[in-house]
Amino acid sequence: MSVVHSETIPVVSEADMVSVRRRVREVAAKVGLSLVDQTKLVTAASELARNTLIYGGGGSMQLESLNGPRLGIRLTFVDNGPGIANIELALRDGFTTGSGLGLGLGGSKRLVNEFEIDSTPGKGTRVAVTRWK
Ligand SMILES: Nc1ncnc2c1ncn2[C@@H]1O[C@H](COP(=O)(O)OP(=O)(O)OP(=O)(O)O)[C@@H](O)[C@H]1O
Ligand SMILES: [Mg+2]
Repeated sequence: MSVVHSETIPVVSEADMVSVRRRVREVAAKVGLSLVDQTKLVTAASELARNTLIYGGGGSMQLESLNGPRLGIRLTFVDNGPGIANIELALRDGFTTGSGLGLGLGGSKRLVNEFEIDSTPGKGTRVAVTRWK
């Protein structure tokens, strides 16, 4: 598996959310994902970027296009926020510590092919998702 292209987009403001959505859509189209799969990935990116912004206190998204054996896209969201104390609980539909519906993490997981989450309380959170063509 090789990384064909990589770029990092800051996730620190509301305006960055627009850039995240636009770049994920553009690269997903370039890689040749179907319109439905492009929308799934953009939706997952939007949810994860919002978590990075709201709960993580801001961070970044690395966007990579992958080759081998299939074409794909990996998105990695990183922040140095408070972290997630109980990942299993956070993934559960309806669980929120904020004012959301608690559907972002679980929903994102269902929209991608691979989903990884690492979080250390007090240090931060990393969520990586991959969608293959
Ligand atoms: N980057 C993060 N840093 C710290 N905590 C996080 C992070 N992402 C998610 N969480 C925690 O996981 C919980 C569940 O996240 P999830 O996205 O599923 O729901 P939500 O953001 O609360 O609501 P929704 O996404 O439906 O608007 C959050 O309420 C928050 O406590
Ligand atoms: Mg959320």
